[in-house]
Order: sequence, then structure tokens, then C-alpha cells
Amino acid sequence: RKRIGIMTSGGDAQGMNAAVRAIVRMALFRDCECFLIYDGYNGLISGGNKIVKAKREDVSGFLTLGGTVIGTARCAEFREKSGRQIAALNIIKSGIDSLVVIGGDGSLTGADNLRAEWHSHVEDLLDAGKISKEEAVAHDNLMIVGLVGSIDNDLATTDITIGAYSALARICEAIDALQITAFSHHRAFVVEVMGRNCGWLALSAAICTGADYVFIPEDPPKGKDWESRMCLALQNSRAAGKKTSLIIVAEGASDSELNPIKADYIESILTNRLKFDTRVTILGHVQRGGSPTFKDRLVATLQGAEAVEAILRADATTPSLIIGVLNNKITAQPLKSAIKLTKELTAEIAKKNFDKAVKLRSTTFTK
Ligand code: F6P
Repeated sequence: RKRIGIMTSGGDAQGMNAAVRAIVRMALFRDCECFLIYDGYNGLISGGNKIVKAKREDVSGFLTLGGTVIGTARCAEFREKSGRQIAALNIIKSGIDSLVVIGGDGSLTGADNLRAEWHSHVEDLLDAGKISKEEAVAHDNLMIVGLVGSIDNDLATTDITIGAYSALARICEAIDALQITAFSHHRAFVVEVMGRNCGWLALSAAICTGADYVFIPEDPPKGKDWESRMCLALQNSRAAGKKTSLIIVAEGASDSELNPIKADYIESILTNRLKFDTRVTILGHVQRGGSPTFKDRLVATLQGAEAVEAILRADATTPSLIIGVLNNKITAQPLKSAIKLTKELTAEIAKKNFDKAVKLRSTTFTK
């Protein structure tokens, strides 16, 4: 009988609760036991009442709620091997043999590190007399399954991450509202959206709201005269009769020399050069708030069910897995390669190889 631990980690994302609910319900349906781990890796390190056996009704009402009811954290201690050893001890003491982590790139990397070190943790804990020989034998392996919960949609090997569609919906809703007041005053709005190193939210929002200009990390404006080109494009659009201007800036956007492009800077160009009446709106955490759209409920539920199936299929040779979606099909792929590809992409941006970055990013969105 499998004993599955479930936790959310890193920045919250709409749909995480739907995933937790699906995992609990599917696990119980498939005759597994499951444990809710509260407050991410902090809870795993604290143990005690942060790791609680779950019943079916514990996740009632979760489907439609945003955020994560079981809590999350960005946990510095878990980044250290010593922190992960305490987590390993609590996992063993709770009898957990499989761990499902719903989180972003960093959280899933942490999970994979824990698994890679698992045998040495078990040996150290046994040597230190913290676990018995029987416990060591019973926990000779830890299965890890990741679900990508992040509004950024920044993980390779999945078309979409849990939360990204809801955040996009929230951004579109906010920008639609801004367009109304922009129209009344014939104003320009510069809107900064989240996404860390990934331009998916900004680019998708630009498409969905008919923005005049967009800045994303993967495809910075080329050359020194990008400001003049932007001004010309905005002027032309006004000359053609448009009453407003909308510029979307990804929070990680930069020029091709990697100097950050910030909303305030764009505002100053529009004000000084074009004499546009310009306002800046930084959408911030509103993007992560609110309830999940139908799409995140659906994807999170299907992925949660698959996470349990993947655990039941696994044997000691199965690598840590990541559950994703590719071409509309739920997938289970090695976690390591997904993380590796994602890191390669960020590295290409840092090396200013933007064409390569765009090509790599095409696993999640096309140029
Ligand atoms: O990774 C999700 C995200 O919302 C990013 O888009 C953003 O850069 C970051 O988290 C904000 O983190 P915090 O909630 O810790 O301020």
C-alpha cells in the first residue's frame, strides 16, 4: 500500500488546490494512504502536526479555490543538504514512500536533489541512530513526482503550467479595465506583468489584448534605435486613428545587452518624446490571486490523477517524474531533463543567444 505525501511549494498558483484534491481523491480511490504536508518544505522540515493523514473530506471545496489551502513557502533551509536530511527523517517517520510536489522549477529541483541524496540520508540517519534498521530497509527508495504549479509557464517539456491560464485571464481582465479609462483620456498605458525570466504571460497578454508593443526576455528589441522604432510604431498607430496605446512589459524584459527594460523607463520615453499622457500599472500579485479558471481546474485534476497512476506504475528504477501536458495529452516525463532544458534556456538568455532561447522556448510557446 503506497503512502503518498502531498505538498505545494514556491509561489502559489491558481489550480494548486484542485491538484491536491485530485491527488487525495485518486490516491484513496486507488487504495493508497495520503498525507498533506502543510507550508511546503518548511512543513516537511518541521514535521509533527505539519504532516497530517488526509481523508476524503479534507479536500472538500478545494476545486474552486485559488492559492493553496495547505500553504506554501520559499524555504531556504531545504536548499541545504542538512535541511533536506531533516526532511528525509520526517518522511521516514511518517512512513511516506512517495512525494508529490506541486511547485515551480526551484521547488522541483529541490525535490530531485532530495531523491538523488536519498540513500546517503538513510545511511546517515541509520548511523546516527535516528532510524531503525527496519525503517531504513522499508525506505530504501523515495519516489518523487512533480506537478508544475507556476503562473510563469516557464518549464520546458510541458505546454502549460498550473496557474498560467488563470493568471493570463486575470491580466486580460485588468487590461480590459485599463483600456476603458485609457480611451476616455486618450492615454498610453504601460503595464508590467509577472513571469520571472519567461515572457509567456506578457506575450500571450499582448496577443489577447491587442497591445501595440511588448517586451519579453527571450526576444529583446534589437539594436540601439529600438526606442525610436517603438515611438514610430506608436505614432503611426495614433495617426491611423487609435486613441490609446498599450505597451506590455514582462518583469524580466531587457534589451539585447541585458539592461533591464522597466515600465517607468518606457513611460519616460512616451512622455518626453511623444508627449503622450502616460500611466504605469504594475499588476503584481493580483495576477496570482482569485480562483482558477476552468482550464486550470481541468489540467490540475487530470495531472493529479496521473501523478497517482505514475506512482503506482513506478518501481525502484523509475526516475523522478514530472507530469505535464504536451499536444493536449497528459504526460509523465523524467524530471531531470525538464529541469535541465529549462536551465539551458535561461543560460542562453544570459549568454545573449536569444535565437537559441526562442527555439528552446518553443517547447512552451512559439515566437
Ligand atoms: O514564480 C511566480 C512569481 O509570481 C513570478 O512571476 C514572480 O517573479 C515571483 O513569483 C514573485 O515572488 P514573490 O511572491 O515571492 O514576491
